[in-house]
Amino acid sequence: MNRAIITSALPYSNGEIHIGHIASTYLPADVTTRFLKQRGVEAYYICASDDFGTPILIKSEQENKNPKEYVEYWRKCHVDDFKSLDIKFDFFDQTSSNENKKFVQYVFTKLYNLNHIYKSKIVQFYCNFDKKFLPDRYVVGECPYCKANDQYSDLCEQCGRIPKSIINPKCIICKKTPIKKETEHYFFKLNKFSSKLSTWLKNNTKLQADVKKYVQNWIKNGLIDWDVTRNITWGIPVPIDNLDQVFYGWFDNHLAYISSSIKFLNGKGLNGKKFWNSANIYHFIGKDIIYHHYLFLPAIRLGINEEYKLPDYIPTRGHLKLHNKKLSKSRNWYISIKQFLAEYPADYLRFYLILISQYSQTDLNFSWEEFITIINSELIGNLGNFINRVLKLTDSKYFKKVPSPEKLDEQDNDIINKIIKTKKNFDSTMDQNNLDRGLKCILKISGYLNKYFQHKEPWKKEANSDNCIFISLNAVANISIMLYPFLPTTSKRIWMQLGIDENIKMQYNEINIITPGHVIKTPQPLFAKIEQS
Ligand code: MF3
Ligand code: ZN
Repeated sequence: MNRAIITSALPYSNGEIHIGHIASTYLPADVTTRFLKQRGVEAYYICASDDFGTPILIKSEQENKNPKEYVEYWRKCHVDDFKSLDIKFDFFDQTSSNENKKFVQYVFTKLYNLNHIYKSKIVQFYCNFDKKFLPDRYVVGECPYCKANDQYSDLCEQCGRIPKSIINPKCIICKKTPIKKETEHYFFKLNKFSSKLSTWLKNNTKLQADVKKYVQNWIKNGLIDWDVTRNITWGIPVPIDNLDQVFYGWFDNHLAYISSSIKFLNGKGLNGKKFWNSANIYHFIGKDIIYHHYLFLPAIRLGINEEYKLPDYIPTRGHLKLHNKKLSKSRNWYISIKQFLAEYPADYLRFYLILISQYSQTDLNFSWEEFITIINSELIGNLGNFINRVLKLTDSKYFKKVPSPEKLDEQDNDIINKIIKTKKNFDSTMDQNNLDRGLKCILKISGYLNKYFQHKEPWKKEANSDNCIFISLNAVANISIMLYPFLPTTSKRIWMQLGIDENIKMQYNEINIITPGHVIKTPQPLFAKIEQS
C-alpha cells in the first residue's frame, strides 16, 4: 500500500513530556513515518494535544487558570519539545478543535441512533459544599486493597488497582467528605461488540501476537459497557437531552485521530475520508493504553459501520524505566527533554532510545552509564569513526575527488556483497517494525566497513586503493540514507559533507550514488565523544 496515516498517543496537555513518552511512542512513530516517506509511501504523521478530562481540569483549577489557557500553554511546550528532538508531525491538532467537537457529536449521535448507547442511573460522589459531582480524580481516599493514603477514587497509584469503593473519601477541592448522589449517564455497549472485536483481532495478522493474546482474554472474561459522559463542564457537550454533561475524555480523544487527519488531508485538497480508507493506519502507543486502543477505539469504529477503517497496526511498546525504577514525575524520577538537550544532541537520544527499545511490551531501561558507553562505542567509535576516516582521507590524499574504481578484488566484492545482504535484512526488519534491529543492521555494515578499510590501508595509495575509497564513499552515502529515519540531522550533515543534493536521499536503494570525479566538501567530525566524569 502506498498510503499511510501514522498517529501516536495524544499527549495530555497537563505537564511536561519526558523521555519515556518519546521512547515508547513518539520516536518509533517518527522513525516509521520518515522511513515510509523515504520509501515513496504517501505517509502523514498526525497528532494532537489531548485537552479534555478531569485530571486536566483539576490541575488547571489548582493553578487558578482557565482550562483553555492551561492546555494552550502545555500544547506549546510539547510542540517545542517535539521539534527539538526532530519529531516531525505533518499536523499537530487538538482534541478541543471545532472539527473534533463536531465529529465526536456526530459519532455519538450515530451510535445512539443505531442503538449502541443507553442511559443508566449511577451513584456518584457529590460535594455539597462545592455543589458539584466529583468524577474520577476529584475524590481521594484510602485504597481498600493496599491501604495507601491519598489515592484517587479511580486509580490507586501505589498498587495500580481500581478501587471498588475508596475508604474515607474526600473532595479534592475543599477536602470535605462528599455524599453520594444519583445521576444519569450514557453508556456505550462495548460488550455487544465482543465477538466482532474478537474476529477482527483474529483476522488482523499485522497486530502484535502477544498483545492480541491477552486482549482476547479480556474479551473472554467479559467486557463491561463504558460510561462515556461526565458531570463536568470542561469537555465536548453531549448533544442530546439538554444535558449538563460532557463526554468522557476517552470518548473524544481517539476520535481526533480521524478528525485531525481528515481536516489536514482535506486542507491539502485531498479527499480525506477516501485517503483514510485507502491507507495503512498506524496507531503507536505505550502498553498502558492497550485496552483503549484494542477494544474501545475499534468498537466505536465498528459501531459507526466502519465508515472509517480500523487500524492495521497498533505498535505497542513497554515503558521506559530509569536505572530500573519506574519513572515518576511526583518523585522527580524522570528526565525531561529540556534537561537532556541541555547536555547532549537530540540524535544521541534518538540513537540510544531506538537501540534499547524492542517491538514488544518489554519494558526498557535507561541507564546513564549504558548511554555513554553506547554513544562512545557504537555511534562514535564504530559509525562516526568510519565515516570521518573515509571523508578525511578523500580530502587529504585525493584532494576531495572521488577516484575511479578499477577491477574489483576479492575483498571489494566481499564487502559489497555483505552490504547488499545486510541492506536486504534492514529492509525486511524495518517492514516488520523492528526498528532496533534496523539500526543494528546499519551498525553491522559500518563494522564490516571499518575492518575492510583497515585491511585495505587506502592511505598507502597502492594498487586498489582507489577501489577502497570509491566503495567506501558510496557506502557512506548508503549509510546516510538508511540512517535518515533514525538520525535525520546527522544524516543531512553527512550528505552535506559528501557534497550531494539532499533530495537524492529519496532515491532509496541505489548502490552507486557517488560517481568518479565528484568533489566532496571539507569533512567535519560528526560527533563529540562523551567524557566520562
Ligand atoms: N492522552 C492519553 C494518554 O496519555 C492518550 C490518548 S490517545 C488517544 O494516555 F488516541 F486515544 F487519544
Ligand atoms: Zn468539595
